[in-house]
Amino acid sequence: MTGRIEGKVAFISGGASGLGEAMVQRFAEEGAIVYFGDVNDASGARVAEATGATFIKHDVASEEQWNDVMSRIKSDHGQLDVLVNNAGILGTGPLETIDLDAWNRLFAINVTGVMLGCKHGGLLMQGNPGGASGSIINISSNAGILATASDCGYSATKGAVKLMTQSIAINFARRGIAIRCNSLHPGPTDTAIFTPWRETEADSNRLDKHLKEMTPLGRIGKPREIANMALYLASDESSFSTGSQFVVDGGGTSALAGM
Ligand SMILES: NC(=O)c1ccc[n+]([C@@H]2O[C@H](COP(=O)([O-])OP(=O)(O)OC[C@H]3O[C@@H](n4cnc5c(N)ncnc54)[C@H](O)[C@@H]3O)[C@@H](O)[C@H]2O)c1
Repeated sequence: MTGRIEGKVAFISGGASGLGEAMVQRFAEEGAIVYFGDVNDASGARVAEATGATFIKHDVASEEQWNDVMSRIKSDHGQLDVLVNNAGILGTGPLETIDLDAWNRLFAINVTGVMLGCKHGGLLMQGNPGGASGSIINISSNAGILATASDCGYSATKGAVKLMTQSIAINFARRGIAIRCNSLHPGPTDTAIFTPWRETEADSNRLDKHLKEMTPLGRIGKPREIANMALYLASDESSFSTGSQFVVDGGGTSALAGM
């Protein structure tokens, strides 16, 4: 531990698996007081036990539950320094097969959930004892920069997160509110989000081959590699960055396809 975010109070949504779990662990290693939410009780308890962080059962699509989370953190510590809007799900498939209920649920989690986090986390940060301050990190995707034909809804939600982040960042900055807001864009990273494509060994090998081929570095990312960028954005090392996109994708969005 080097204390890069020593004493900062952080909340990470969807922290019971994958990238969120790696962030909970990394932030705790660097001295933060870490709270995390998730809809999955059992995994939340496991991650809390492993990291010493505090788990709160929490659905990002519920405004009432965002209120409850922020009230709890306010009553425990009186401040919030870092918010990571990480919870997210994969989408709806291609345009021609979209089911409207699934589309609405996807937007409720991937877009409305991020907005509610920014709204309620931002309000708590504005009341921080030393004056408004904080860093909000919204997890978008490489699919929020370049589109996928195979998942219309996912690209739409992740693109929305990118522009919502810019809007929020500029809103705070122009009002002289010292809360930064940036988006983080991971490329393919080894987490449970791909479980539906790993039903058989053959499926899993096909997926791995595809993900490696779309990544110039020739491999799938590790959750800790994404968490390290979140850590930088959470820390004061990134103090001049707001409204920006931070891509960690093994080079995947750098080249035109096939060139
Ligand atoms: N893994 C990748 O390759 C990759 C790439 C780009 C972006 N992302 C994004 O990273 C984020 C994390 O994904 P991951 O790969 O770690 O997936 P994951 O499935 O391993 O973890 C997501 C977590 O979010 C939780 N969650 C789902 N719905 C929720 C809700 N309504 N409220 C609260 N928690 C909820 C799940 O229970 C799970 O613990 C997502 O926003 C995803 O879109 C992932």
